[in-house]
Amino acid sequence: MSRKTVRDYIRTIPDFPHEGILFRDVTTLFADARGMRLCVDQLLDPYAGQRIDAVAGLEARGFILGGAIAHQLGTGFVPIRKKGKLPGPTFAQDYALEYGQATVEVHRDALPAGARVLLVDDLLATGGTARAGIALLERLGCEVMGCAFVIDLPDLGGRKALEAMGMELHTLCS
Ligand code: PRP
Ligand code: ADE
Repeated sequence: MSRKTVRDYIRTIPDFPHEGILFRDVTTLFADARGMRLCVDQLLDPYAGQRIDAVAGLEARGFILGGAIAHQLGTGFVPIRKKGKLPGPTFAQDYALEYGQATVEVHRDALPAGARVLLVDDLLATGGTARAGIALLERLGCEVMGCAFVIDLPDLGGRKALEAMGMELHTLCS
């Protein structure tokens, strides 16, 4: 009997949130006990033995993964949120999306300078969201020691953009 891979748990919804977008839906992956464990374990695989001081997650699905990963590592979790959601003083960063424009924020006192942070999200498309997250973590003085995503959409250029910045990148399927 062949066992399902992470890719097998992800479904595609056409024309969401706009016509022409093939939306890669990870709710079916997260809802499955084995799928969830498989994806957290595989996201962490390449970082075994490395020092990770904290996990940062990108809203919204990066929170689900990031919380589970932080628990597994025994670290804290830092949310990078859409504009206007964090209550304390923040740094803000604008970015362009595959379908729109947005701003993300992080609390100015979220992490100490010098912390080695793993950034996680469900999906890498243009890389705009991830680059904004990296910029915010770097404004805190942190070192982004890796970026881990479940899905890579290579045609949208995010992987190339992050690799060009010298980022250590880990993705589970494309
Ligand atoms: C999706 C996805 C990533 C981002 C990737 O989030 O979860 O965060 O897009 O796209 P990019 O590489 O082109 O920046 P979305 O913006 O749909 O927000 P949501 O998680 O709040 O729904
Ligand atoms: N974020 C940006 N592009 C996406 C896609 N095609 N599916 C899911 N999330 C996305």
